[in-house]
Amino acid sequence: MVAVDTIAVLDFGGQYTQLIARRIRDLGVYSEIFPCTNPPANLLTGGYKGIVLSGGPNSVYDANAPLPAKDIFEAGIPVLGICYGMQAMGYLLGGDVVPSDRREYGKASVHLTGQSRLLDGVKPEDAGRVTVWMSHGDSVLKPPPGFTALGATTNCPVAAMADDARKLFAVQFHPEVVHTPQGRRVFENFLDICGATRTWSMASFIDDTAAATRAKVGRDRVLCALSGGVDSSVVAVLVHQAIGDQLTCVFVDNGLLRKGEAEAVVRTFRDTFRINLIRVDASRRFLEALDGVTDPEVKRKRVGAEFIAVFQDEAQKLGAIPWLAQGTLYPDVIESVSHKGPSATIKTHHNVGGLPEDMQFGLVEPLRELFKDEVRRIGEILGLPADIVWRQPFPGPGLSIRVLGEVTKERLDVLRDADAIVQDEIRAAGLEREMWQAFAVLLPVRTVGVMGDFRTYANVIALRAVTSLDAMTADWARLPYELLGVISNRIINEVKDVNRVVYDISSKPPATIEWE
Ligand code: XMP
Repeated sequence: MVAVDTIAVLDFGGQYTQLIARRIRDLGVYSEIFPCTNPPANLLTGGYKGIVLSGGPNSVYDANAPLPAKDIFEAGIPVLGICYGMQAMGYLLGGDVVPSDRREYGKASVHLTGQSRLLDGVKPEDAGRVTVWMSHGDSVLKPPPGFTALGATTNCPVAAMADDARKLFAVQFHPEVVHTPQGRRVFENFLDICGATRTWSMASFIDDTAAATRAKVGRDRVLCALSGGVDSSVVAVLVHQAIGDQLTCVFVDNGLLRKGEAEAVVRTFRDTFRINLIRVDASRRFLEALDGVTDPEVKRKRVGAEFIAVFQDEAQKLGAIPWLAQGTLYPDVIESVSHKGPSATIKTHHNVGGLPEDMQFGLVEPLRELFKDEVRRIGEILGLPADIVWRQPFPGPGLSIRVLGEVTKERLDVLRDADAIVQDEIRAAGLEREMWQAFAVLLPVRTVGVMGDFRTYANVIALRAVTSLDAMTADWARLPYELLGVISNRIINEVKDVNRVVYDISSKPPATIEWE
């Protein structure tokens, strides 16, 4: 049984499933995502206050269409079907669902025609219509017996439907996306109908997690691999708050970090937070492991293996420590049909989860239930500096995959200096949080230039700046020409051995964000 009022979100593979769970949490109610294959008994006996059926790519008429068990509509638990969830509900309960070859996608206006608690307070905007975001193929033509149609768009005869008596509700549009301005209201109404109390908050999460961590580890020591990224930083501070000096953090300085980053990690965690922090200066080991390597995948493997070796050496020096704290997030643990894809695989290279079997730890994973932006909020509440809380993603293999070709100390230093200017200027322009990532890449070619009266033959820096929501797709950032000019001038003037800067204008796909 769940401990706090919780809404279960059944995932049918929709691209917005995680967003549904997030919206509900934002309203102060905890929500969990389950794959649509989750046995209905779990949902019905789990103590959930309500169930949301997500969208999904299927048609209910597909041969293997995933359908919820009919039982969930008969248990008296409020259910909200969204998009495919609505079609499944309509289909299973005897409504008329029509397949369509053409998808309706984008903004639409719903003309409200019926009344339901689900739409309490949803007000018509201009011309008596409500703006929503649609993305669907099939449509409900006629609601099932007992349901009232609540509105229509020009392409969709039943845009929402409800059976208030049985507490069954459905919307064809997506209330979870920002393009449905009154979507929040729909969720608020649903949570009220569920009688869910709004007790889920970040502050209570921190207290509960500290208590749970103490109960789990007792007087034992806990080890944490601190990278300086937001997840491991929040884990370190959270666990430290719970168990103080029982926590030891190991920070492996692989020499592949950005300029000043290693020093900043030590300053923040050792000096400010007074955390037991061991900084291992392993740059030489990593450089040796990368010696002569030019293939990107080999670089990744070497850096990953070296990290494990260094970490293992350090852990051995510390004696027996039974627990390892790590920053696993909710998207990593949801066993969901929609949560697959390259990013999950890409990141395996450098996870501490890949430690060898003879290093056996019990795991402390205090962020397992959280989404990234919730982790950031916790970081802010815990007093972590903004530059850590809002840090851009940084690949595990670090700058080794941004120094194209062979990695040497000298080339790393050139890249670090150029990259520091990029960071500086993007920050000064106030664009940092708008970028998914912005960084410099050192190319493995030299080009001719002229400086004063002299011909130069020097390095090229490529500038990469992208916007993205999840790194699965990305677009090159339309940085102002002025800013590009300033960055280029500064790099060429201030960084030794660079005489040219180019801007990468490729999107992902077909390019990737990193160059290697
Ligand atoms: P790509 O280059 O595949 O990158 O478009 C997608 C996101 O993943 C990051 N990335 C990595 N992260 N280990 C990591 O932990 C890696 O080997 C790795 N390669 C790429 C990249 O920075 C981007 O955010």
